[in-house]
Amino acid sequence: MLRRLHKDQPASFEFTPANLAWAKGQISKYPEGRQASAVIPLLWRAQEQHGWLTRPAIEYVANMLGMAYIRALEVATFYFMFQLQPVGSVAHIQICGTTSCMICGAEDLIAVCKELIASAPHTLSADGKFSWEEVECMGACANAPMAQIGKDYYEDLTAEKLRELIARFSTGEVPVPGPQNGRYAAEPKKGLTSLKEFESGKKQFNASAQLAVDIGDTVKRIDGTEVPLTTPWLGKPAKATPAKSKATEAKPGKNIPADDTGVTVQEAPAKSKAKPVSKDEPAAAAAFAPVEAGAGTQPAGLAAPRGGAADNLKEIEGIGPALEKLCNSMGIFHFDQIAQWGAAEIAWMDSNLKGFKGRVTRDKWVAQAKLIVTEGLEAFRIRAKTNDY
Ligand code: FES
Repeated sequence: MLRRLHKDQPASFEFTPANLAWAKGQISKYPEGRQASAVIPLLWRAQEQHGWLTRPAIEYVANMLGMAYIRALEVATFYFMFQLQPVGSVAHIQICGTTSCMICGAEDLIAVCKELIASAPHTLSADGKFSWEEVECMGACANAPMAQIGKDYYEDLTAEKLRELIARFSTGEVPVPGPQNGRYAAEPKKGLTSLKEFESGKKQFNASAQLAVDIGDTVKRIDGTEVPLTTPWLGKPAKATPAKSKATEAKPGKNIPADDTGVTVQEAPAKSKAKPVSKDEPAAAAAFAPVEAGAGTQPAGLAAPRGGAADNLKEIEGIGPALEKLCNSMGIFHFDQIAQWGAAEIAWMDSNLKGFKGRVTRDKWVAQAKLIVTEGLEAFRIRAKTNDY
């Protein structure tokens, strides 16, 4: 089905201090220049904070990671774990409608959702507590038919079982996830016929249901309970960092991504030693000192855009608002400047784009800029759709 942004959007989005600290911890898991890899956990956290994923939240996350907005939007619209419209205050129910589940009764489950929640998917129930949709295979085919309710799988369902589950959720109960027909996991209904030694020592519920019970985060919005966020990869729980001075405070959401030290990419040049980079324009040199020493030759920059109007560098695939600002801070304002870079300039930029190392080569900035200069923007945009550069 088409996955589009909801027509009604809030004006803005910003992580809470706790979520911002958690997000920085997520970003710190990835190597330099690969921060965009954190897009899924950050979008997920934004959805957890707001209840569904809004356009301002997608833009906020894109800015925080230095990605073009379209790249974050592509992720948000691709995965149905992201809800692009308001969902039930208690739970959003995702019924698997793919082959195994369909053969085993998914259509009956959908009929229950239509009857008890709303006749159309992605519509709130009259009391606002539930919403539903049909989704593709969720990998629990051996326990078909199944549904994801909140964050967990409820398996081996029947129409009656689903009715009962919705009723129990509605009263504030959180039924134990997993098989709903008495099976422990995905063993035969009449019990194990082999590997029986694994019967001893097993926990009350199968591993995934036990984890869900232990975490208690299945439908956490049911009573507004906050489940503590952790950053085990940092060896300590995530918490809001104490207020920093304005000079070092990261301000994601305003096109100013930060690394895990809180130093923004715009602040970084000011921290390094100034080094003239353009013999012809000494005034310009002081304005865009290198971020750090690196291989190659720093490209000559301009003190200001020619004619007072910079090119929209974001036309180049891979350059988002944050990278454009970083380029501008280095005196790079025009496509023809980038088009002239040789191997030395590319090497320097690749090693000095703090937080975005290697992007010039990876995203073929120079090839793209040359196309824009030689063929014009319209022709470039057509070729860019198929990465033809
Ligand atoms: Fe439903 Fe795979 S077909 S989980």
